[in-house]
Amino acid sequence: MFKLAPSILAADFSKLGEEVSGIEKAGAHLIHIDVMDGHFVPNISFGASVMKSLCGKSTLPFDVHLMIENPDKYIEDFITDATEYITVHQEACPNIHRTIRYIKSFGVKAGVSVNPGTSLSVLDSILNEVDLVLIMSVNPGFGGQSFIEFSLDKIRHLAEIRNSRGLNFEIEVDGGVTIHNVDSLVDAGAEIIVAGNSVFAGGNINENVRQLLNRGR
Ligand code: DX5
Ligand code: ZN
Repeated sequence: MFKLAPSILAADFSKLGEEVSGIEKAGAHLIHIDVMDGHFVPNISFGASVMKSLCGKSTLPFDVHLMIENPDKYIEDFITDATEYITVHQEACPNIHRTIRYIKSFGVKAGVSVNPGTSLSVLDSILNEVDLVLIMSVNPGFGGQSFIEFSLDKIRHLAEIRNSRGLNFEIEVDGGVTIHNVDSLVDAGAEIIVAGNSVFAGGNINENVRQLLNRGR
């Protein structure tokens, strides 16, 4: 069993309310909120006010992915009754331990993400503090990119580390997920699957969600 977190980055922004109620009806579990600042990543998406406009449009919790520099400055803006996870990038946080504690101080789950080129070893000392580790399987900044294959090994390796250390953070994967690789990602140990284009771009949202939840079958 895994949770599906459609990324609204790939949704139709002119009808976001309908899009999120659509993914809820289709059986998705979370709404993945991709926040980009044009500095940490080469693209600007949207901020907290857009996310807050979705409060009450569905009962799905928010899974906030901050691809921004200096996230500490903005974390509080993303706290709502619907916020379940706030994830920051290891690469953007010189004091990641403090940032994780700060996120948790609001009573939400704290996640840390690593880019494809970042080794898992940099997370060693905070793995016992985090609720979630988000493995980026594309270089962040844009939806619709191709899955980077070595991310599968990274997920497997992280699951092994978790087992050997008796920890219980969740493992999430983000970028290039399709009906063709979702099965192997879940097998490798991913428990939260982010999907943007494979949910919203093309076809029917209901059918896309159903197929992803069914591991591509
Ligand atoms: C990438 C974002 C992803 C992305 C996923 O920078 O963090 O969440 O939107 O989109 P797809 O599934 O289209 O790769
Ligand atoms: Zn994301």
